[in-house]
Amino acid sequence: TWTMLNIVEDAVEAVRQQVGDGRAICALSGGVDSAVAAAMVQRAIGDRLTCVFVDHGLLRKGEAEQVERDFVRATGVKLRVVDAADRFLKALDGVSDPEDKRKIIGREFIRVFEDEQRAIMADGPVDFLVQGTLYPDVVESGGGTGTANIKSHHNVGGLPEDLQFKLVEPLRTLFKDEVRRAGEELGLPAAMVWRQPFPGPGLGIRIVGEVTRERLDLLREADAIAREELSRAGLDREIWQCPVVLLADVRSVGVQGDGRTYGHPVVLRPVTSEDAMTADWARVPYDVLSRISTRITNEVRDVNRVVVDITSKPPGTIEWE
Ligand code: XMP
Repeated sequence: TWTMLNIVEDAVEAVRQQVGDGRAICALSGGVDSAVAAAMVQRAIGDRLTCVFVDHGLLRKGEAEQVERDFVRATGVKLRVVDAADRFLKALDGVSDPEDKRKIIGREFIRVFEDEQRAIMADGPVDFLVQGTLYPDVVESGGGTGTANIKSHHNVGGLPEDLQFKLVEPLRTLFKDEVRRAGEELGLPAAMVWRQPFPGPGLGIRIVGEVTRERLDLLREADAIAREELSRAGLDREIWQCPVVLLADVRSVGVQGDGRTYGHPVVLRPVTSEDAMTADWARVPYDVLSRISTRITNEVRDVNRVVVDITSKPPGTIEWE
């Protein structure tokens, strides 16, 4: 729309003013906020922006490709991809406690990002760090600006507070729906623009128990099926998000084909919400649930049971960990 075009152009111009002929870096998460922020800054300063995508191996099916291929193709952003899955898995080896997982994932993310930052700065100084801070985040944190200090909840562990960068926050005046429209205006892939919220620590906090490559593969398949059926049923925008959780430490008996199975359950956690502070369990039609259940148990090895979480928030959180 005309207004959205103006909002985008104004934001791009403001970035141009702020950054001058300096350089900037931006960490992409696969989420809409960092993607739109990066696309705006790219419009403003071209390849004086370098984006970094740390693939921690905890993303959902297709998400890494979305960033590496579709996003780059749509924006022309200069991107460094770090395939850090092995490193994250090693750091998570033997860890089951949810808070420990979060801390480890956050810590590794910062280390990898700092390595990249050093490599980028070898080509010349970088003064600016791009962040996809939205208006509600600004309000929530008292409107302050300046340091790169984000609530750890809102990205992968939070970036270190002593980063010597000036922040570029082109989304500071926008609400989520405006960010999505700006993303469309900038030509970003629809799957990225309309992506539902997904936690920074990714599938690492959707496996109850230790995180292993095999378990991630199972969960990725189950999650892809749930997303596919929910979107086929046209429920994408009605449902706030639908975590799929693998209960890796639980086994139950089942029967499949001509034999007894002893596999894992997955939990569907569809919720409706306005802002994730409170949530209700989504009344997904039975036939949709049924299709998801049938497909997951048929198509995902080692999963022989699908259960639905019907807890509101509070008392349950949206995520299981
Ligand atoms: P909970 O589970 O606290 O989640 O009800 C509320 C919303 O926040 C998301 N979430 C996270 N997002 N890093 C994030 O970027 C995190 O560590 C994290 N933990 C939860 C969750 O998906 C939901 O949208």
